[in-house]
Amino acid sequence: MVELTTKRSRVLVTGNLGYIGSVLAPYFERAGHTVVGLDTGLFAGCDLGPPPSVVPTLAVDLRDVTVDDLRGFDAIVHLAALSNDPLGNLEPGLTWAINHAASITLAQRAKEAGVRRFLYASSCSVYGAAEDGATVDEDAPMRPTTPYAASKVRVEDDLHDLADSDFSPVYLRNATVFGVSPRLRADVVLNNLVGTAYLDREVRVLSDGSPWRPLVHVQDVAAAFLAALEAERDAIHDVAVNVGSDECNYRVRELAELAGEVTGCPVAILGEADPDARSYRVDFSRLGQVLPAFEARWTARAGAEELQAAYVAHGLTREQFATRLTRLARIDALLNDGLLDHSLRFVERPAIVA
Ligand SMILES: NC(=O)c1ccc[n+]([C@@H]2O[C@H](COP(=O)([O-])OP(=O)(O)OC[C@H]3O[C@@H](n4cnc5c(N)ncnc54)[C@H](O)[C@@H]3O)[C@@H](O)[C@H]2O)c1
Repeated sequence: MVELTTKRSRVLVTGNLGYIGSVLAPYFERAGHTVVGLDTGLFAGCDLGPPPSVVPTLAVDLRDVTVDDLRGFDAIVHLAALSNDPLGNLEPGLTWAINHAASITLAQRAKEAGVRRFLYASSCSVYGAAEDGATVDEDAPMRPTTPYAASKVRVEDDLHDLADSDFSPVYLRNATVFGVSPRLRADVVLNNLVGTAYLDREVRVLSDGSPWRPLVHVQDVAAAFLAALEAERDAIHDVAVNVGSDECNYRVRELAELAGEVTGCPVAILGEADPDARSYRVDFSRLGQVLPAFEARWTARAGAEELQAAYVAHGLTREQFATRLTRLARIDALLNDGLLDHSLRFVERPAIVA
C-alpha cells in the first residue's frame, strides 16, 4: 500500500495554470513530489510579469478525463473550476457541469484508477450568508448564495459518498485568496483594492463594505495543500477544513482602509451597490489540529505591500487589470473572439495552453 506520509508522491494538479495552481504546482515540486498538470489554459498568456514555471500538463478538458489519464497517481489536487461567484452566474448550468458533475466523474475515475487521496479545493463561500458577527466553523450550516458556492457544497457531499478505505477525499475550504502569483487575479478583493489604488490613486468600494471576508495568501494555500498531501491518512480522511487564519477575518471596508494605508491613497466607500449577501467570519482552529505541520505565514498587510510592489514592478495596465486578469472578462473575450464555444470548450485546441 502506498503511504503518502513517507514517500515522494506522484500528484496530478488540475487547474495548474490558474491563480493558485501556478504557485502550488512548483511549490509541490520544490517539496520533492512529482507533479503533472491538467488544464485547458483558459488564462494562457494572462500573466503579471514573467510567465509561470509550468509542469508537464495534460491539455484535457476536465469533462473529458479518462481513467487512463489518472493511472499511476498517488493523489489528485483538484483546482480546475469556473472559479468564482460572478463566473458561476455567467451560465449556472455550466457551473454545475464543470464544477460539480465533472468533479465527481473525476473522483469516480480516480478511484477506479487507484488514486488514494483527493484534495478538493472547496471554499469558505459555502457558508454564504452567515448571521452577522457570528463566527462559523466547519460544522456550521452551509448557506450558499450563488451557483458557484452551491456547487462546492454538492461536490463535498458527493465526494463524502465515495470515501472508503481506499479513497480519501479532503475538503479544503479556502478563504478568499490574495497575493502575487504569475497568474494573479484582479477579481479577488484585496488584489482588486490595491490594483484600483495603483491605477486610479483611490481605493473605491461600491458597496457599504460591511460584509465579512476571511482571506488567505496564495502561498499559504499551497502550503496547506502540501500539508494535507503529506498528512497521515486518518487525519484528513473525509474531513472538511477551513484554510486561512483567524487574524485574516476582515470586513471589506477594513481591507479598503488597509489598501489605502499601504498605497497612500484615499478611500471612498460609495455605498451605491446593493449589499453583498455573502458575509462570513470563519473559525480556522481545526486547520491547526488536523494539519499541525501548516502555519499561515502571510498577513493581509504584507500581502497588500507585496501586491503594490508587484504592480509597480510589472507596470500593471488598465487593460490588463480589466480584461486578462479578470476571469469573467477573459472568458467573455474568448467567447466573443470565437475561441470558446457556448459550453466553454475550445473550438480548436489552442497552440499555447500554458
Ligand atoms: N481564488 C480564490 O479566492 C479561491 C477561494 C476559494 C476556493 N478557490 C478554489 O480554488 C480553485 C482554484 O482557484 P483559482 O483562483 O486558481 O482559479 P483560476 O480561475 O485562476 O484557475 C482555474 C484553472 O482551471 C482551468 N479550468 C477551468 N475549467 C476547466 C476545464 N473544464 N477543464 C480543464 N481546466 C479547466 C482554467 O484554465 C484555469 O487555469 C477553484 O476550484 C476555486 O473554486 C479559489
